[in-house]
Amino acid sequence: MKKNLISINDLERSDIESFLSTASEVEKLTKRKASDILPGCILSTLFLEPSTRTRLSFEAAMQRLGGTTINLASEVSSVQKGENITDTGKVVAGYTDICVVRSPYEGTARMLTEKTKVPIINGGDGANQHPTQTLLDLFTIKKEFGSIDGLKIGMMGDLKYGRTVHSLAEALDNYSVEIRLISPDETKMPEHIVKEVGVEEETNKMKIKDLDVLYTTRIQKERFPDKQEYERVKDVFVLDEERVKEMKKDAILMHPLPRIDEIKPEGDKLPQARYFEQAKNGVPARMGIILELLGVEVNV
Ligand code: NCD
Repeated sequence: MKKNLISINDLERSDIESFLSTASEVEKLTKRKASDILPGCILSTLFLEPSTRTRLSFEAAMQRLGGTTINLASEVSSVQKGENITDTGKVVAGYTDICVVRSPYEGTARMLTEKTKVPIINGGDGANQHPTQTLLDLFTIKKEFGSIDGLKIGMMGDLKYGRTVHSLAEALDNYSVEIRLISPDETKMPEHIVKEVGVEEETNKMKIKDLDVLYTTRIQKERFPDKQEYERVKDVFVLDEERVKEMKKDAILMHPLPRIDEIKPEGDKLPQARYFEQAKNGVPARMGIILELLGVEVNV
């Protein structure tokens, strides 16, 4: 049993499976039964970067489990007075039973684990890791195909700065899958991840016809040191209706959201589109994460 969730690399396949099966157990419960699991528990969110899905789905998850949440609004907190993140985090986490942290800096969540006694969840640290997104992504893939092994999975877009794809690639290293990395040369997956993960193919062409899963991502504008480079790559891989229709009928198209122009809205109605279901799966997946880290079993 894990106490913190900081990096996908801290997990073995059996840990990943355990998170996924708790999520799937808790998803089967009625709302009333689920809300009896954690009454009196409080989750804190300490977000120093914008977020819609990660923060709100963690809040929904804790509230569905019968607990409550408190949230640091960093723009009106003492962070603005110059308090360091470690002091803020230590105090906020200490008010609660479990804490989710998002930061523009790599390593913030891990650093906090040394300062507090409560479980710390990394809700995204810079361009590094986004492990809870990965667990909900795997939860979505497993729900769809029954198993992750044997699939042909493409990751496309900003593989350089996108933390979701870094965590996902590392998680998939635990499974027998074929991985194809599709990106402009400017936003290729960091070399150390490509080396570590068994990648079948890296390409700058939009080769998507034979994939079971296409996971596309936003070009991470805020992380580009050179804004002209962002302008050059932002519209290289756009999926319109025609392109999505090239995919296999039973393939799925995923995106962690927010999307900017990577998938035209006309793609939403196509049978491959799964990104809104994927976002919705954030709630049961994160209920599973909270329960696993607090060491609470689901009794069906
Ligand atoms: C992602 C993130 O914050 O890394 N968003 C999310 O949590 N669903 C992806 C992104 O911002 O592009």
